[in-house]
Amino acid sequence: MLILIKENAQQMSLEAAQQVASQIKLKPDSVIGFATGSTPLAMYKELIKMHKEDGLDFSKITSFNLDEYVELPPSHPESYHYFMWENLFKHININPSNVHIPMGMAGNIDAFCDWYEEKIKSYGGIDLQILGIGGNGHIAFNEPGSSLGSRTRIKTLGLKTRLDNSRFFSNLDEVPKYAITMGVGTIMEAKKLLLLANGINKADAIKATVEGPIMAKYPATIVQLHRYATIIIDNEAASKLEGEYIDK
Ligand code: PGA
Repeated sequence: MLILIKENAQQMSLEAAQQVASQIKLKPDSVIGFATGSTPLAMYKELIKMHKEDGLDFSKITSFNLDEYVELPPSHPESYHYFMWENLFKHININPSNVHIPMGMAGNIDAFCDWYEEKIKSYGGIDLQILGIGGNGHIAFNEPGSSLGSRTRIKTLGLKTRLDNSRFFSNLDEVPKYAITMGVGTIMEAKKLLLLANGINKADAIKATVEGPIMAKYPATIVQLHRYATIIIDNEAASKLEGEYIDK
């Protein structure tokens, strides 16, 4: 794992955007795994700026998103479809037919999940997967206790995750109880991982992920086994780490 500790969330986002841009320049038809949540927002703003000001070309990339709430239509402002189009896709030149986001409204969710896995494989796998991390150590919606070999499937969201995400809804009851998520095993097959975290409320999860034992209780700890995982965090998220890491 390469651990990069940045001064603040803005520096974290800039570094992450530069790494995504390098991947796209190196391989214009890269398959990129995108994440939602508040963490990657500033990175997406940087990527939009790179597209508008420097001509960063997204026209040949293919995207696969990590997860989506079950039973929220794509038009719902809190759906991850809506998030991705509002915060990134509509501002860049991605080909809409190259965009893949789990369909929370799928009639047969199990069949959809199998299709999603096959689709990822058909593109030769994900070149670079962007990840946030939950305060409880989840990656995508792989909640504590998720099988470390799991594939794309439906998951029940834990109360901590629903409480964390209730800030986007008018009350807790409105937060969906289920989501479709890439599995931990699916994520681990990406050729490179880029995990981002900022803020003091991520410090425990980052401590467990970087320095704790690998365990299903903190699904993010599995990234210790990935050959090419980069973790970019700010000083606050890094504040509980004991080891010496690159501080730049
Ligand atoms: P956040 O969510 O970026 O909104 O903190 C991250 C996650 O739950 O994976």
